[in-house]
Amino acid sequence: MRASGLCWPALLLLLALTAVAAARDHDFRRDFDVTWGEGNARFRDGGRQVELSLDRRSGARLQSKERYLFGRFDIEIKLVPGESAGTITSFYICTGGARHDEVDFEFLGNASGEPYLLHTNIFTDGKGEREQQFVLWFDPTAGFHTYSILWNPHNIILYIDGTPIRVFRNNAARGVPFPTRQPVHVFASIWDAEDWATQGGRLKTDWASAPFVATYRRYNVTNACVWDEEGGRARCPTAAVEGGGRRRRRQAAWMAQRMDWWSWMTLSWVRMNYMVYDYCDDRRRFPHGSPPECVIPIGRS
Ligand SMILES: *[C@@H]1O[C@H](CO)[C@@H](O)[C@H](O)[C@H]1NC(C)=O
Ligand SMILES: *[C@@H]1O[C@H](CO)[C@@H](O)[C@H](O)[C@H]1NC(C)=O
Repeated sequence: MRASGLCWPALLLLLALTAVAAARDHDFRRDFDVTWGEGNARFRDGGRQVELSLDRRSGARLQSKERYLFGRFDIEIKLVPGESAGTITSFYICTGGARHDEVDFEFLGNASGEPYLLHTNIFTDGKGEREQQFVLWFDPTAGFHTYSILWNPHNIILYIDGTPIRVFRNNAARGVPFPTRQPVHVFASIWDAEDWATQGGRLKTDWASAPFVATYRRYNVTNACVWDEEGGRARCPTAAVEGGGRRRRRQAAWMAQRMDWWSWMTLSWVRMNYMVYDYCDDRRRFPHGSPPECVIPIGRS
């Protein structure tokens, strides 16, 4: 009697956990709205994969239904293969509004056989002009790679396949605005930017090669604080901790994540070998000295 009395709740709990895990399995159709280019977003594999395409008529954009205040956002992308000059494929978070916060991954296409350029930018309080550009150490059109944005109260870190490529630390105490108040939507899009994207705009989009198709899959937003639109606050996932024979909940590890020694080492390897532009080093744009976040030496938290 006793044993079965214990078993039932355990079984129900197991069923409940299974239901949660299943619900978490992402579905682009369920989690995103197509806010631009309706016919150019094609869902595959029961919504687990989406193809965004660009043709003469239109590009396409997905916008998450939920908003988030802090989170780790992962997605796998396979970029437009072959001719892709003039096109931009993106993954970004953005608050909207006049004083918007935004973090961008933008992949600038190129002539067939020429390398993609990864353009990143960070806007805080409506101000951007923080571009960093990279070439990649792999062919991003040959297979899927994971692009991640980690945003917590301490820093914003951009990763490729788990390798940090860019950090923007919370230097609010030193007068650099850092996003901590406005919830973001998550976006994925493809559009035509032939005026500037490829080789400074010299190479235009070759419409004979259209449609240009980028594929997204394995979106993961498990580790994010969902904004409660009615309550006006964010709900953050917590982690269980065992201790002193009691189970407690505490803040999830990603909310406290910062760069450790190894991360700084890897980041300098990326910067040394793959970074091709850094606004911090652009004397022509900032003749009176770099923006304040640039002069804070790397490695100090
Ligand atoms: C395209 O390829 C050229 C030549 O390799 C390179 O200079 C350029 O940075 C590449 N990317 C873009 C977006 O122009
Ligand atoms: C999402 O990422 C977390 C770790 O960041 C991982 O534990 C989880 O299994 C991932 N979920 C999916 C569906 O891939």
